[in-house]
Amino acid sequence: MPPRPSNTPRSSSPTPARPRARAHANGTRATRADDDAPAAADASIDTLLGGLSAAQFMRRYWQRKPLLIRGAVRDTASLIDRATLFDLADRDDVESRLIAQRRGKWSLDHGPFAPDELPSSRSKQWTLLVQGVNLHHDATHALMNRFRFLPDARLDDVMYSYATDGGGVGPHFDSYDVFLLQTHGKRRWRIGAQRDLSLREGMPLKILDRFEPTEEWVLEPGDMLYLPPHIAHDGVAIGECMTCSIGFRAPLAGEVIGQFLFDLAERAGEMKGAARRLRDPGREPTLTPARIPQDVTDTAEAWIRNVQWNRADIERFVGRYLSEPKPTVVFDAPEDPMDIEAFLAHARAHGVRVDPRTVLLYDDRAFYINGETDRLERSIRDGVQRLADRKALEGKDFVTLSETAAMTVLVHEWYCAGWVRAA
Ligand code: SIN
Ligand code: CO
Repeated sequence: MPPRPSNTPRSSSPTPARPRARAHANGTRATRADDDAPAAADASIDTLLGGLSAAQFMRRYWQRKPLLIRGAVRDTASLIDRATLFDLADRDDVESRLIAQRRGKWSLDHGPFAPDELPSSRSKQWTLLVQGVNLHHDATHALMNRFRFLPDARLDDVMYSYATDGGGVGPHFDSYDVFLLQTHGKRRWRIGAQRDLSLREGMPLKILDRFEPTEEWVLEPGDMLYLPPHIAHDGVAIGECMTCSIGFRAPLAGEVIGQFLFDLAERAGEMKGAARRLRDPGREPTLTPARIPQDVTDTAEAWIRNVQWNRADIERFVGRYLSEPKPTVVFDAPEDPMDIEAFLAHARAHGVRVDPRTVLLYDDRAFYINGETDRLERSIRDGVQRLADRKALEGKDFVTLSETAAMTVLVHEWYCAGWVRAA
């Protein structure tokens, strides 16, 4: 997918090139989590949602209104540091962008960036955005997993922004939900649920023409702001700072329909036989060569009307589509893989875990891994579902899972492909 001139694009959820005014703005005020009635202790997930249970958060805030959570994540200093982030920005399998503001003018450059291609951290008003950090950094992957009270089908990636004093990506809106977690330093966020989302013309990134913030906070390390789609926001660094954004996928209908029809067309194209190509023996000579012959349209109509699909085709498509790895992902197969006996002994002793770049999903009939699919036979059902939901299997799972042999063969294949790691 070509990169779009968006401040904070999500690879799987491109924002429309032109904004559309929202029919109705949900909630103009961000509520502080601690303003709410105390959560039922049993279902609250630690501090992440400010004492709300996942169910309370989903009911009251998700896709509805902003929420500011003070002290959501402890020990953010142990998340990625500046040097590691800059190293990632230098890799060509990592998407990064540099946004700078000089004398009121915005510039946008795409990575990779060698260390000497980044401005000095003493120079003001620039931002480095690095996407998909969860794919390459275990602690960030673990952070993203804390948001798995939402289905993997909705989670997209974790992007980090590093900014120097006054840096930011400008007032804008996103088309997807986002949790903005301050990990280092301070950032001032201003937000508003304005209806007018028109963008400034001729900008290299999405900048709102008229930003009308109604609320403002300074976030410190550990504080987090949840924003539903289409809430106008602007975050400006107060000194050097880092913010991490946990973003969600919100595929566009046109994108899904287009991809499904493309897949169907590929399958139809693979069918053999003369009926798959236009034929016209006995055609009369024409005196109007520019006119489209009716039989050409008739043939096209017959082909198109013949295209059929059922629920199983859609399930297969959705699973494969959602489990497609990010375009930049390349798996590293182990250099000297263990054979299946050694692998089983290792797995029984230490377990296995899914590589952070792997997408493993399932439904009632099948599993989907990195764009491939197969049936969830009974012999592997429990094991695959457990591996997918927990992203890991413990050693004892290999001992107790029924029909371990089929499961071991499968997981060994995935290990050899670099999709699963021997823990
Ligand atoms: C965002 O606005 O979505 C993130 C921008 C940033 O972290 O600077
Ligand atoms: Co944003």
